[in-house]
Amino acid sequence: MTEIVKVPDYTASPRQTLFHTSTAFERFYGGAAGGGKTAALVAEAVTRCLEYDHYAAYLFRRTYEDTKKTLMREIDKQCRAYIKDGNMIFRSQEKGYYFTATESWIYLCYYNHEDDFNHYQGSEIHMLGIDELTQFYESWYDNLVGRVRSDDPDKPLTVFAAGNPGGVGHGWVKTRFIDAAPPEQIIYDKRPYVKRDGSIDYIETTRMFIPATLEDHPSASFRQSYMRSLLTMADPKKREAYLYGNWDLFAGQAFSEWRRHLHVVEPFNIPDHWPRWMAYDYGRGTYAGAVWLARDPISQRIYLYREYYVSGKGPRIQAREMKQLEQSNEQLPVRLADPSLWKHIANADDGKTIADRFDEEGINFTPANNDRLQGITAVHEALSLAPDGLPYLQVFSNCVHFIRTLPSLVVDTKRPEDVDTTGEDHLYDALRYGLVNERKATVEDSMPQSDPGLFSDGGYYG
Ligand SMILES: Nc1ncnc2c1ncn2[C@@H]1O[C@H](COP(=O)(O)OP(=O)(O)OP(=O)(O)O)[C@@H](O)[C@H]1O
Ligand SMILES: [Mg+2]
Repeated sequence: MTEIVKVPDYTASPRQTLFHTSTAFERFYGGAAGGGKTAALVAEAVTRCLEYDHYAAYLFRRTYEDTKKTLMREIDKQCRAYIKDGNMIFRSQEKGYYFTATESWIYLCYYNHEDDFNHYQGSEIHMLGIDELTQFYESWYDNLVGRVRSDDPDKPLTVFAAGNPGGVGHGWVKTRFIDAAPPEQIIYDKRPYVKRDGSIDYIETTRMFIPATLEDHPSASFRQSYMRSLLTMADPKKREAYLYGNWDLFAGQAFSEWRRHLHVVEPFNIPDHWPRWMAYDYGRGTYAGAVWLARDPISQRIYLYREYYVSGKGPRIQAREMKQLEQSNEQLPVRLADPSLWKHIANADDGKTIADRFDEEGINFTPANNDRLQGITAVHEALSLAPDGLPYLQVFSNCVHFIRTLPSLVVDTKRPEDVDTTGEDHLYDALRYGLVNERKATVEDSMPQSDPGLFSDGGYYG
């Protein structure tokens, strides 16, 4: 955008200006509460609809209720004069604002379930705007980005998003925007594509993270009064996330003890005599996850040394792929799985369960203890620090999905002692099966008699 805004009641702050003027295709404005993120998203959409003919800006929240309460409210606040003069008309049937001079639209959208994408499947989106991006799954974001297109080269195509730390999308948003490069720097990614003649060409995609802080807000009185409200909050984690937009520590994080520099280690060769076992959480439409664990018989430290994470594959293929990951001589006397494997029928013709299918492929699972509270306690204990200063559980750095998803899990607001199961929790589930149900015998065999080691209270083994 050359001119920043054409919105009467909005004057962009320096950070908002960067959000408007950056040349990155994807821009994420994220961090502290109250910095003016939603306002910037709205001002950008309005300005583009005033500037370009037949422009289509799609603004998203998870639910339509949220969209109305935040985005619509902000549009009404910024554009009161235009609406009053009839230059912008809200049409409820289209769920959008129509700009009479340019015939452009701002659509108010929602995406709360997989199926909601059906409303937007055929759309031509010129500006995609997503508020509270950390409430979205990455696959949903990808679905929407895949609709950003136009045959008119003069229409700017951009993805704008805003959000705070926390939420089910915290992990992927952090990986995609925050960890990828220092803030306010464009991240360049060259993506290959195969042309019709078979040759390969490259397209450069760009993205940028713009950190929001309350300090950026243009109004001193707003800053002061909101700062007081935030400082009144008792929970220090929440305060830090809202005030400073700290992405490593966020309100509602289920495993806030996670520290990458302590919990992640470079892979090494696991000696053959170390006991190994694996655990698996089934999913077909959603993800399925498995983790392989080994215990150092001297230190009793557990290593998560391999992961398997897929979606959309049936049990037979999953079993074969898992086997392929294993070495031919790998000793895995214990394989634990979600007890629902013995309930779901894989194929109506022969009445066999999913567990039977794995059996046929040479993977013999034992039902795991699915007690959720024992599970979360076991994971917390495993992440805690042993007397030598290192955690009882360490994860090989190539287990990228586990490392990405575990720190992003959030607590269940209705059951704060448990993890919110709408997050990406399959590898966490596999780990809790692996820890709670780990066979006592497997471990006791390898335990030095004089040193009962970790978890010697027995509660850990189920
Ligand atoms: N540049 C601006 N000019 C005028 N008003 C602004 C500007 N930026 C933000 N505001 C107003 O400040 C208030 C807070 O801004 P906004 O809601 O955009 O913050 P936010 O970063 O989205 O907060 P949250 O993290 O709570 O979602 C709103 O009332 C908004 O209209
Ligand atoms: Mg907001």
